[in-house]
Amino acid sequence: MRHHRIFAALYDKMIGLCERAGFRDARADLLGQAHGRVLEIGAGTGLNLSHYTADVDDLVLLEPDRFMAARLRDRIAADPSLPASVTVINEPAEHLPFDDESFDCVVSTLVLCTVDDPEQTVAEVARVLRPGGRLLCLEHVRSSSSERLARWQDRLDLPWGWFAGGCHPNRDTARILRASRLDVESLDHGEMPKEIGPLIRPMISGAVTKA
Ligand SMILES: C[S@@+](CC[C@H](N)C(=O)[O-])C[C@H]1O[C@@H](n2cnc3c(N)ncnc32)[C@H](O)[C@@H]1O
Repeated sequence: MRHHRIFAALYDKMIGLCERAGFRDARADLLGQAHGRVLEIGAGTGLNLSHYTADVDDLVLLEPDRFMAARLRDRIAADPSLPASVTVINEPAEHLPFDDESFDCVVSTLVLCTVDDPEQTVAEVARVLRPGGRLLCLEHVRSSSSERLARWQDRLDLPWGWFAGGCHPNRDTARILRASRLDVESLDHGEMPKEIGPLIRPMISGAVTKA
């Protein structure tokens, strides 16, 4: 995978308006459900960190981009209120360096759009989740309600990726999750705040469970 120095440097600013317009609340609603031993894939600059509660006792943050990981480490160092145990690991989500059934919860926010192989990533998440464990996700997706927007997402897939750290605006992540060995428990289709722009506005959020 490529490392994105400029995208990492600008990320918090680029998403800041959207965070303040409501995405921060969506993160808090989702992450309030995390508990026990938690793995967050593609943790980026650490915008989820402040939303984990005391129900999380071990937090493992996976971030393969060295520029993102450096910012993530800085944010952790600056935040004394985090759960006791936080570890950062520089690995891609397609090959998780963890034992089978070793996490209670996996978190993915705005990551399945960017990983090289989303099917392999979800298979790896399923492998490391304990039975009854949940993948909590908040992802922008290919539009299912507007064929016109979906076509624009296809057309602009490549240039958008150059601009946005390899992100694919047209990924049908809901279909990938439904086709996986995980059970879709709740997956709401909604929209990110309009401040994010139309191309990546369609969103899914919810929980997918390992039986
Ligand atoms: C749009 S950012 C989202 C960051 C963060 N999750 C958030 O919600 O703000 C996408 C993140 O996915 C990471 N990423 C890209 N490819 C990945 C892979 N194969 N495995 C895990 N993370 C990856 C990127 O480095 C980046 O930090």
